[in-house]
Amino acid sequence: MIRTENLTKVYRMGEVEVQALRDVNLEIQDSEFIAIIGPSGSGKSTLLNLIGCLDKPTSGAVFIDGIDTGKLSENGLAEIRREKIGFIFQQFNLIHTLNALENVALPMFFAGMRHETRMERAEELLAKVGLGDRIHHKPSELSGGEQQRMAIARALSNDPEIIIGDEPTGNIDTEAGKVIMDILEGLNREGRTIIVVTHDAEIAARAGRTKRMRDGKVLD
Ligand SMILES: Nc1ncnc2c1ncn2[C@@H]1O[C@H](COP(=O)(O)OP(=O)(O)OP(=O)(O)O)[C@@H](O)[C@H]1O
Ligand SMILES: [Mg+2]
Repeated sequence: MIRTENLTKVYRMGEVEVQALRDVNLEIQDSEFIAIIGPSGSGKSTLLNLIGCLDKPTSGAVFIDGIDTGKLSENGLAEIRREKIGFIFQQFNLIHTLNALENVALPMFFAGMRHETRMERAEELLAKVGLGDRIHHKPSELSGGEQQRMAIARALSNDPEIIIGDEPTGNIDTEAGKVIMDILEGLNREGRTIIVVTHDAEIAARAGRTKRMRDGKVLD
């Protein structure tokens, strides 16, 4: 389970302070599929980054499976990110000089997996997202939807319990977006927790639960 407790984030830029999150209390159960919606600047990405341990709150806490992530060292945080969480971003964030196999295998290299195991698993994961016949393609040789599927395969490389997507369908067309949602639903049926931020009401409607944000708060 994921739980935030009075989660607050203030960005300071010189004299100016931006209250990006204000006392957010949110509980996300294991195997839930939750969509987060809300206007631009309402704090959605900030919330995802804190839940995903990519950034630290100004005050308040994020608990993941009962662990207070604020009490972890940098190494401890890196371990949680590596073992429990898979990220998908709007801009895919793939490495352009590497092909699909190499992109997907990269996190497994950092996790210390053997070369052969990495390559086998990367191929399996690419097949799982429908890219079994594109494993030697580089990102620039694939469509937007295909690149995002490659990014999902990469997010799955370490078999995460939690998948976090920040507008994963934001840069692709509607049809390709539906395919991405089909894949995320499948991963949810496997028991993974899925948290997605989206601007698309149709995408949000496919989640089990929707939460709306405004001015740094999660509304009831
Ligand atoms: N690194 C940063 N430094 C300073 N201010 C920031 C930073 N990141 C975000 N902000 C500010 O915090 C607020 C929340 O930003 P956030 O990116 O979480 O919004 P969002 O809901 O994801 O918006 P969008 O839908 O446009 O992606 C905004 O007012 C933004 O300008
Ligand atoms: Mg955002």
